[in-house]
Order: sequence, then structure tokens, then C-alpha cells
Amino acid sequence: MTRAIAPGPRGQLLLGMLPVVRRDPLRTLHRAAMQFGDVVRMRFGVVTAHMISGPEGVQHVLVENARNYGKQTRGFLKLREILGNGLLTAEGESWRRHRRIAQPAFHRQRLASFADTIVREAGRTADRWTELAATGEPVDVAREMARLTLQVIGRTMLSRDVALEADRVGGALTYLLHAANLRMSRILDLPQSLPTPGNLRFARALRTLDGVVQEIIAERRRAADRPEDLLTMLLESSDEETGERMSDTQLRDEAMTIFLAGHETTANALAWTFYLLSRHPSLGRALRLELERELTGKPSLSQLPQLTLTRAVIDEALRLYPPAWLISRSVTQDDEIGGFHIPAGSIVFVSPFIVHRDPRIWENPEGFDPDRFAPERAATVPRGAYFPFGAGPRQCIGASFALMEAQLVLATLWRRFRLDLVPGHSLEPDPSITLRPRHGMPMTVRRWAGYGSD
Ligand code: HEM
Repeated sequence: MTRAIAPGPRGQLLLGMLPVVRRDPLRTLHRAAMQFGDVVRMRFGVVTAHMISGPEGVQHVLVENARNYGKQTRGFLKLREILGNGLLTAEGESWRRHRRIAQPAFHRQRLASFADTIVREAGRTADRWTELAATGEPVDVAREMARLTLQVIGRTMLSRDVALEADRVGGALTYLLHAANLRMSRILDLPQSLPTPGNLRFARALRTLDGVVQEIIAERRRAADRPEDLLTMLLESSDEETGERMSDTQLRDEAMTIFLAGHETTANALAWTFYLLSRHPSLGRALRLELERELTGKPSLSQLPQLTLTRAVIDEALRLYPPAWLISRSVTQDDEIGGFHIPAGSIVFVSPFIVHRDPRIWENPEGFDPDRFAPERAATVPRGAYFPFGAGPRQCIGASFALMEAQLVLATLWRRFRLDLVPGHSLEPDPSITLRPRHGMPMTVRRWAGYGSD
């Protein structure tokens, strides 16, 4: 095996690349990939990391040699403080077993039953937007989408109306993600047990979320008539060998994971989609025409295959603004990628954001061009070049769910409204755990009819 050391920026003497990457991760990593190539070596304090950005290397880490790349990274350790040992953060046998149990909740037949719920919830947002359109008052679309997707995940996976809790839960989640992200990039992370103001606030936000989730579980345990959803599946599952059922802690971790992983990402994807459509009005009009032409009545699952532009718009938004913008792994055994040595105990990361903007793969990478994902062209994208949902065994379990949800929400809302960015608001991506708009996304809701295109 080669011992060749990959090239990379030197960074500062003690902290290496930590300060620069912390200050401006997207630009720094993009530049490093352009300057040093597909395998870039970086040091973050005492930790050695490699950024892999060639499609073959990405496939190697996430798919072909996935067993060698675990989740013992600082990022996942921080996420574990919130999510415990749920599907996203667990490893080994316990992950495999839970994935097996949860998988049927995401099968195609099950998804069909969720479509109506999604359209109904999107319809509620549309009704509220009708009033907003009349007043012209701007609305934070990022927040609107978070509320909508939280409600959808509550209804479909936990059969629960979380509308009343949405603001409380949403606020707590936002804070926890923000805090976890800060801790991740700190050089010295004070133990969670110290009663610092930050730690106390973190503990409080976690208690809020825990309270909601524990209540949902307790209610479900008591229920004589249980709905057929993910929570019931988890509750009634038992270990094939020991017959053991999931404990309350395991259920809590899984429910919390689905709560978080299942709404924040999709909300961001939709917010960025609206942003891009607002900046490309002719595409926005083309999308509206498709919806007018293809939809009879409300959007439904069976109509989705006809909505090819709707789907391509979402695929392209996920290329430019992949909500899970960075995927990190810990290296178990020495390996070799692209002719370079990858030592055991180091960290490897792949970034959809960086790979999705590589000019060697994508023509005019910064251009918003849904045509790249037109049905006849989508298959030409090389493996490892486009992975908003990750790849391999740890690929997103909710990918089909998310795509269906995004299409149905976009179709429902865009058919009735277009959204204009509020002028003068500086909009930039905030690459924390997910890629969200840093200061929200204020937009004005406009009815199409008022613009003579009905
Ligand atoms: C646009 C929306 C979404 C995006 C971009 C996204 C992205 C991702 C990515 C990149 C991963 C892999 C992480 C890794 O390899 O370390 C992942 C995993 C996961 N996602 Fe998603 N996701 C989305 C929506 C959803 C939804 C709707 C759900 C659930 C309803 C969900 C649940 C999960 C879970 C449970 C995992 C862990 C799977 C495992 O390791 O077995 N995600 N997601």
C-alpha cells in the first residue's frame, strides 16, 4: 500500500486549517479542491483529515469500502448528544437491526399513503399564503417550510399533529443544531456537565424536545388502537434472536432522529428551491405552465411522473444547495485513495456541495439549469458525482419520501403562487450541520392570477 502523502494547504502552526475552515468553510474547501485535486490533506489541530472530491473516491468511501469508514467523527459525536443512538448516528449491529425494522415504513406502498397527508398540509400553507398575498407582507419562507415539513413528519411517521408544538419544537431544534455546530468547530469543548450558560440552555432545549417525544411514546404505548406508522413499527418490533423489544431510550433516539433528519433537510431543500425560482423567473413561469398543463385537481402521487420539470427543478436545487453539505467518516484501517495514503484513525470527508460544483463534471456549475436532470439526461451523471442523499449502506432512508414531499409541496404552492425575494436582504448559505439560509429567507407571496398568466 502506498505511503504517498496527499497535497494540501498548510494552515497555521498549531491549529492547522481549523480557523480558516471555521470562518468560511464553503469557499475554503472549494478552493482547496480546485488547487490540490481529488484528495486534499488538511490538519485540524491534532486531527488529520482528507477531503475526497473525485467521484471514484466518493464511491470508494461511501459505497465500495464503506465498512472501513465509520461514524466516530466529532460531528457525529456532537449529534449523538442530541439524537442518542438513532439510525443516523448508530453503527454496527444495532444500526443494521434498526434499519431493517424502519425500512418498511419507507416502502413505495407506504409512501403512497403519505402523499395525501402531504398535499393536505401544503394546502393549509397555501390557504395562509392567500391572505399574505393579499396584504403583500413578506414571510420567512425558510421558517414556513420548516413548519410545514415538521407537521408532515409528525403526521406521517408519528401520526401526531405537532402544529401546537411546532414553534416550541422548531425553536428548540434550531437552537440545538446551532449549538452542536458551534461545539463541533471549537478547539476546546467544555464538558456538557459544566453549568455554563450555553450548556444550561442546551440542556433546556434538549429537555423540551425530549418531553414532546417521550409524551408521544408514552401515549402510543397506552393506545389500544395503534395507527400503522413508523412509531408503531418500532414499538412492536422485536429482536429476531432474543425477542427483546426496543427500550424507551431506543425509541426516543429513533423518534428524535426521524424528527430532525426528516424535516430540517427537506425544509432547506424547498427554501433553496424557492430562492432559485425567484432568481430565474422564466423557469418559474415554465414550471407554472407544467403544473397548469399536467395537474387535474390537486397534485397526487400518480401525477408525479408527468411533472418532469418539477422534479428536475428539485434535483438541480439539491445539486446547488445540498442540505447535507458535508458527510464525514472516521477511518478504521489504513487505506489508499487516488494513490494517496489514508491512515487509520484519521478523518475523511466528502462534500456534495463541493463535488456538485466541480467544473470538470458540471458545465457552468454555478448556473441553475434544471435541464441537466431532464429524464433523458439524468442517467448520464457519473456515479459519485451527485449525492445529495449520500450513497451506499448509509444512504438516506428517507430519500424517496423527501423527493415525493418536495415535489408535492412545490406543485401545490407554485401552482397558486410565485415568491419574490425581498430586495436588499443579503442571502447566503450558512454551512452548519445543514445548509440553511443564514438570515432566513424573506419573500413576498404573489398570486399568479394577478400577473395575467392564469
Ligand atoms: C432533502 C431532504 C434530505 C436530504 C438532503 C437528506 C440527506 C441525507 C444524507 C446525506 C444522509 C447520509 C448521511 C451519512 O452518510 O452520514 C441521510 C441519512 C439519513 N436520513 Fe436523510 N435526507 C433528507 C430527508 C430525510 C427524510 C425525509 C428522512 C426521514 C423521514 C430522513 C432520514 C434519514 C435517516 C434516518 C438517515 C440515516 C440513515 C442510516 O444511516 O441508515 N432524511 N440523509
